[in-house]
Amino acid sequence: MMPSLKIDEHIFTILIEEKRIQETVKRLGQQIADDYRGRKPILTGILNGSFLFIADLVRAIDIYEAEIDFLKIGSYGDHMLSSGTITLDKDVSADIRGRHVIVIEDIVDSGLSVTFIRNHLMAKEPASLEFASLLVKKQKAKIDFPIKYVGFEIGNEFVIGYGLDYKQQYRHLRDIYVTKS
Ligand code: IMP
Ligand code: MG
Repeated sequence: MMPSLKIDEHIFTILIEEKRIQETVKRLGQQIADDYRGRKPILTGILNGSFLFIADLVRAIDIYEAEIDFLKIGSYGDHMLSSGTITLDKDVSADIRGRHVIVIEDIVDSGLSVTFIRNHLMAKEPASLEFASLLVKKQKAKIDFPIKYVGFEIGNEFVIGYGLDYKQQYRHLRDIYVTKS
C-alpha cells in the first residue's frame, strides 16, 4: 500500500483500503447467495473494470450452480469523463432468456453504461435482471431503476485501483485511490 501516488498532474490518495473492500465484497456475496439460492444465476461481468470485483465476488457466493459470463462495452472520450457514446464490443455468450442475470459492474458514474446494458439485456428476456456495483457516484448517477447490490457510495470524484483505470493503467492496485481534481 502506498499512501499517495503522483500520476501526471494528479495526486491520488487512498479512499478505500483493501481490507474494507474485501469485507464489503464478502457481505455482497453472502447477500447474493441468500437471494439466489436454488436459482442458478448468471453473473455477467462488465469488462474490463469489473474483473477483480467479479473474481472476488464469485468466491464469496456460496452457490455451486452460479455461472460466470462477460460483456464488454466501450465508451470514447476523456480519460476521466465518460463520453456518452457507448458501443457493445462483446455480447454475453450465454443464452440468458428465462435466466436470472446479475450484472457485475465496477462503478456507476453517470449511469449511462448500466442503462445501456439494461436495455440491451432486457431485450433478451431474462427471468430477472439485477445489478451489483462496487461503487456508485450517487449524486451524479441518473438511472430510473435500482442498483440492488452496492458496495460503497462515493462522491463525484475520480478513482483508480481494484479494476478501475486511469489511461488503462493502475487496475491492479489492491486499494482504491481518489483524486480531487
Ligand atoms: P457511466 O456510464 O458514466 O456510469 O460510467 C461507467 C464507466 O466509466 C465505468 O464502468 C468505468 O469504466 C468508467 N468510470 C467512471 N467513473 C470512473 C472513475 O472514477 N474511475 C475509473 N473509471 C471510471
Ligand atoms: Mg467499467
